[in-house]
Amino acid sequence: VSNFSSIKCKDLFLIYVLLCPCSCEGILAQDLSTPKENQNAYIAASYVKFLEAAGARVVPIMINQTDEEYRRLFKSINGVLFPGGGASIFSSGYQRSSKIFYEMALEANRRGDYFPIWGTCLGLEQLFLLTNGVSLLTRTNTTAVSLPLKFTKGKSKMFQGFPPELMDALALEPLTENSHRWSLAMEAFNSSNTLTSFYKVLSTNTDGKTEFLSTVEAFDYPIYGTQWHPEKNAFEWRRPFVAHTPSGVRVTFFMAEFFVSEARKNFHRFATEDEENQALIYNFSPVKSSAKSIFEQIYYF
Ligand SMILES: *[C@@H]1O[C@H](CO)[C@@H](O)[C@H](O)[C@H]1NC(C)=O
Ligand SMILES: *[C@@H]1O[C@H](CO)[C@@H](O)[C@H](O)[C@H]1NC(C)=O
Ligand SMILES: *[C@@H]1O[C@H](CO)[C@@H](O)[C@H](O)[C@H]1NC(C)=O
Repeated sequence: VSNFSSIKCKDLFLIYVLLCPCSCEGILAQDLSTPKENQNAYIAASYVKFLEAAGARVVPIMINQTDEEYRRLFKSINGVLFPGGGASIFSSGYQRSSKIFYEMALEANRRGDYFPIWGTCLGLEQLFLLTNGVSLLTRTNTTAVSLPLKFTKGKSKMFQGFPPELMDALALEPLTENSHRWSLAMEAFNSSNTLTSFYKVLSTNTDGKTEFLSTVEAFDYPIYGTQWHPEKNAFEWRRPFVAHTPSGVRVTFFMAEFFVSEARKNFHRFATEDEENQALIYNFSPVKSSAKSIFEQIYYF
């Protein structure tokens, strides 16, 4: 371009802003254990805030949509988060939508269309099952505890951009909240070639008896997971052992920032502005949860 040099920095910046992918991220809704008429699924608001804090716009992915609707949505969003919760990973609306998005993501990534998936807690358990085909989860005593991470050696994509002092805090302070009955034990993981060739273990933890995988990333795909809850430090206050310390809150932000930066690497977008407007979470309002809930606010669908 002959007159390239006459383009000012400011113009280049504006071009960059315009071209920068829109970063709409899907979050899977999941089946309510006791559905009501016109209300059968939910998303805990902390997952929405988690992604919004890092600059994403959230699109709720409803359960029980048609394959065609999920395919259309996949082309419109830049990544998907499988949240924690109590839905069945074997048979539920959540299981079905996660399987469809997982398979579309593998296929897209093989074509060079970079599409990230993040699984938190139940979401990671679901990812392990989707990858392995057979569940290898075991019971652990980890329903209500915050733990420091035991990092494995070697490099990761996930933690590469973390400040060293935050890595130290993660390794030394109980910043990662665990609320799961099931875990993938290291021993079971080691027994599956499918899993060991797919996932790199970034950290482990133990309940005193069983060493389990706590943070993973896939070798060949932008697929990430934590058995713990990075969204809780900044956004959930119902359980006393969630670390709301400055380091804890920074963990929330850095994890979200990493995932959202991964989602900026594809150019999926909604076909029309109208379709985008109708899909965004802004069409819904979270409500304050009942006293016995572990969540502050919930979106019901
Ligand atoms: C959604 O699908 C699941 C099975 O995939 C089924 O058990 C459930 O009843 C469905 N819910 C609604 C509201 O249709
Ligand atoms: C479970 O772990 C907690 C600490 O996190 C401990 O106090 C409790 O005794 C453990 N329970 C069992 C059955 O091991
Ligand atoms: C799993 O395999 C890793 C790497 O080979 C090894 O370091 C670790 O001790 C094994 N853990 C268990 C519980 O089998």
